[in-house]
Amino acid sequence: MTRDEAMQADVLALREKEHVRILSLETSCDETAAAVIEDGRSILSNIVFSQIDLHALYGGVVPEIASRAHVDACDRVIDEAVKAAGMTLEDVDALAVTYGPGLVGALLTGVSCMKGLSYALQKPLIPVHHIEGHISANFLTSPDLEPPFLCLVVSGGHSHLVNVPDYGTYELWGQTMDDAAGEAFDKAARVLGLPYPGGPRVDALAEEGNPHYLTLPHPHTDGRYDYSFSGMKTAFLNSVHHMEQMGEPLPKADLAASFREAVVSSLVEKAMLAAEDSGMKKMALAGGVSANRLLRRRMQETCDARGIALYMPQLNLCTDNGAMIGSAAYYRLKKGEVAKMTLNAIPSLRLV
Ligand code: KG4
Ligand code: ZN
Repeated sequence: MTRDEAMQADVLALREKEHVRILSLETSCDETAAAVIEDGRSILSNIVFSQIDLHALYGGVVPEIASRAHVDACDRVIDEAVKAAGMTLEDVDALAVTYGPGLVGALLTGVSCMKGLSYALQKPLIPVHHIEGHISANFLTSPDLEPPFLCLVVSGGHSHLVNVPDYGTYELWGQTMDDAAGEAFDKAARVLGLPYPGGPRVDALAEEGNPHYLTLPHPHTDGRYDYSFSGMKTAFLNSVHHMEQMGEPLPKADLAASFREAVVSSLVEKAMLAAEDSGMKKMALAGGVSANRLLRRRMQETCDARGIALYMPQLNLCTDNGAMIGSAAYYRLKKGEVAKMTLNAIPSLRLV
């Protein structure tokens, strides 16, 4: 039996095991994160090492710095996760790693590390799509959530509206035509002089501001559930630059609140359109922007008014973490999926 065949046999056997503990690693962008997850739903440990301080100096993620920092942090973060779960590496049933999408060097660090560990420990490795991980963060926060449901995925690189008819199955209903929601927040933050990562700063500042100070264009998209943020972003940048040229002081809180209002109302509107059209009574949020306070409040109000059950990851599971990868891996394992030793990082890996 080859090594790949042996790992396949191990995964099939694990499907019958009463409790499965997965050690997962996430290194797709600027967080080195590891976790131990039991049966896809319980967090035994969740360790996140954020590289934000390293990148803040440059106003954004520097890929080469990210890769090197992952190399430095991987072993330590894995060690901490295993110890915090009260286990040793030997106690782990399977391993999981994000293999795309993301920065190629950052992904490769994690994939190489987990392939090495899988080889040394003779334990199967489950490859996980980063966005599938974000969606699965909901399974950790809401033990009662089962497919089918609709999910609004809003992160630094993605704005997708997906239908999730079953575990590991996705139908793309809508997506952004240009910028991702998180990317738009980060650009608005930059023009307001707020440090990287800007999304959470715009959100905090917006709490104090007037959301109707500035009216930003509501985008038109051909696709019924598609998004577009570049028009409102450009209008926002033009308004700010105009004020600066006129020597006017920037009402930063009002500007932040107006931008947040425009992005969030567009996100909620299309998500509700999809819910209405499909008759689906379960809606989930996922990705870094699902930490946005207005998005959470507005979605809750709107879903409550329509009798839709809303699921949101707890705040520390919205942005990148290892726990969400371990949850997604469990359902892949249940389908008998396992990585071959030829597994590679795929920077532009698609969800569907
Ligand atoms: O999901 P994530 O951690 O990484 C990607 O997979 O991209 O998302 C990061 C993005 C960043 O653009 C960040 O500014 C944004 O999520 N973000 C927020 C908030 N928290 C994080 N955007 C708006 N409001 C927030 N509270
Ligand atoms: Zn992410």
